[in-house]
Amino acid sequence: MYVSMKEMLWHAHENNYAVMAINCVNMEQAKAIIQSASEEHSAVIINISPRQMKAHGHPEILAPMIRNMAEKVQVPVAFNLDHGANYEDIAYAIQCGFSSVMIDASGYEFEENIKRTSIVASLAHSKGLSCEAELGHVGLANQQDNIKADLYTNVGQACEFVQRTHCDCLAVAIGTAHGSYSKGFIPTLDFERLRLLKEALEMPLALHGGSGAGDENIKKVVAYGINKINVCTDLFKYARQSMADAIAANPNIDYMDVNIAAQEAMKKFIKRYMRLIGSSGRYTFEKSNGPEFD
Ligand code: 13P
Repeated sequence: MYVSMKEMLWHAHENNYAVMAINCVNMEQAKAIIQSASEEHSAVIINISPRQMKAHGHPEILAPMIRNMAEKVQVPVAFNLDHGANYEDIAYAIQCGFSSVMIDASGYEFEENIKRTSIVASLAHSKGLSCEAELGHVGLANQQDNIKADLYTNVGQACEFVQRTHCDCLAVAIGTAHGSYSKGFIPTLDFERLRLLKEALEMPLALHGGSGAGDENIKKVVAYGINKINVCTDLFKYARQSMADAIAANPNIDYMDVNIAAQEAMKKFIKRYMRLIGSSGRYTFEKSNGPEFD
């Protein structure tokens, strides 16, 4: 099923679990993500950022392919613009057939963030898409933004923000950051802030910078009310390592088989993660007669 994020995230909110939102730049990733979701009976969100779109995963090619695969499975699959920065990004995503958009105006002042987010939310809703927004700012791990408490989401502001923008899902800053932390570092998260945000907002909340956060933190954020967890860096590293291992094991390996090895490895990673965050087994359907696509 090709759907927006709205219903799947409300289902996660009402049943206290989270859905993976995975950055994807090619066919092997799309296949790994959608097959994993189908095999796990889980919803899933496929993310792509404007940078990834420009560098490799051109959405005019990727969006119809993802839609095609999503329509072959019985679990909900959303295709979401990750960190849309401006109206051009949003308009292009809508034109390409995304089912959801994120407007990230978290670098602007509160009122400007509200203004930009409200415009995008009402446009997205008029086209049947869901809209994610960000308040506070989830920065970069290599700049240690995770420990900058002044970037964390303010609970009082969050209520006003959601009431005035009508976003469907709010990305909150509670101590994670995008990218790789220094080796062995596990971030300390502000669970009390997350608890207060959930209590005040009673709506789907997103955690960005899922990579490197550690299983215990991830399980705990889900228990405290996170319903969408963004993962990019860890999956990309895992896929790259699986390719390196396949080539090391057989230096003459066929190019196609390297891609297949990466696809299978990504499925292992994703399916384990889906079980960790409780999204596995949430959708029941008639068993299909084999894989919907290889
Ligand atoms: P990571 O690369 O840290 O997993 O962050 C992904 C993300 O939040 C995309 O928006």
